[in-house]
Amino acid sequence: MAPAPETVRERVSSRQSWYHTLELAPGVVTPGWFDLRSVAPAVLPASLTGQRCLDVGTFDGFWAFEMERRGAAEVVAVDIVDPLAWDWPVTSGSTLVQILEDRKQGGAGFDIAAEVLGSAVRYLESSVYDLDPDRHGRFDFVFMGSLLLHLRDPVRALERLRAVCHPAGTVATMDAVDPTLTRLFPRRALASFDGDGRPWWWLPNVAAYERMVRSAGLAPLAPATPIRLPPGAGQPVVKPSRAVLTTREGRRLLGATRKGDPQAWLHSRPVPAA
Ligand SMILES: C[S@@+](CC[C@H](N)C(=O)[O-])C[C@H]1O[C@@H](n2cnc3c(N)ncnc32)[C@H](O)[C@@H]1O
Repeated sequence: MAPAPETVRERVSSRQSWYHTLELAPGVVTPGWFDLRSVAPAVLPASLTGQRCLDVGTFDGFWAFEMERRGAAEVVAVDIVDPLAWDWPVTSGSTLVQILEDRKQGGAGFDIAAEVLGSAVRYLESSVYDLDPDRHGRFDFVFMGSLLLHLRDPVRALERLRAVCHPAGTVATMDAVDPTLTRLFPRRALASFDGDGRPWWWLPNVAAYERMVRSAGLAPLAPATPIRLPPGAGQPVVKPSRAVLTTREGRRLLGATRKGDPQAWLHSRPVPAA
């Protein structure tokens, strides 16, 4: 039996922050950093009936639960529970690690959501780099969102998605792109590099994003589609100020508040080994 909305409300407010906006009971919605509910119908097929699906870097589980809702036979969600195991540049301080650790609380958001929704999604602790067909099997549909940006070696991660995808399956990725580099260089593959103090590494233009996918042995089924990720109720609103407008990061945050976080999504298929 589904828990009463009041009980669900209490469980939602037991967490200090949520990454995903999830409707856990009628009218009870988590105050996520992002609200991806309008994005999912563009990125996921309407039906995944009977398919074995994988969600990589699941956080609070939005994409895994969406795949389950679309009729998947099995959904496996993987994540790294301990943020210390992420790809941190050596210049990172402990304050940011602590902030992200507090936000994640050992995957507590996923546990609450799965229990309340009565979900059968299987949560496994694994890095994307350790995905292995011998251990995890192969999947018909593999999804990875907003993770390439946080990886020192995004192409190796894409290679692991290819390795666990059925030869006739689909790899769906959606990740951060640089809109300015995309506008200025629509065809040339270019990326800006951060890698200083926080686990933010490569920010490709759309051409480089597609090239990364191809270089991992995945053939795009269509060109990458730009998309904006709408902020959720838990994301602070950035207001224009001198401090915000005079830094590149400030302008990026302001644009994300106003228009959503700039990303692109792509469906691809493993290319057989030569
Ligand atoms: C920015 S969140 C994206 C959440 C979700 N995938 C989405 O698209 O909404 C990044 C997630 O990836 C996880 N993560 C970070 N490094 C990882 C790695 N090497 N392997 C798997 N997951 C990782 C983090 O713990 C976090 O849950």
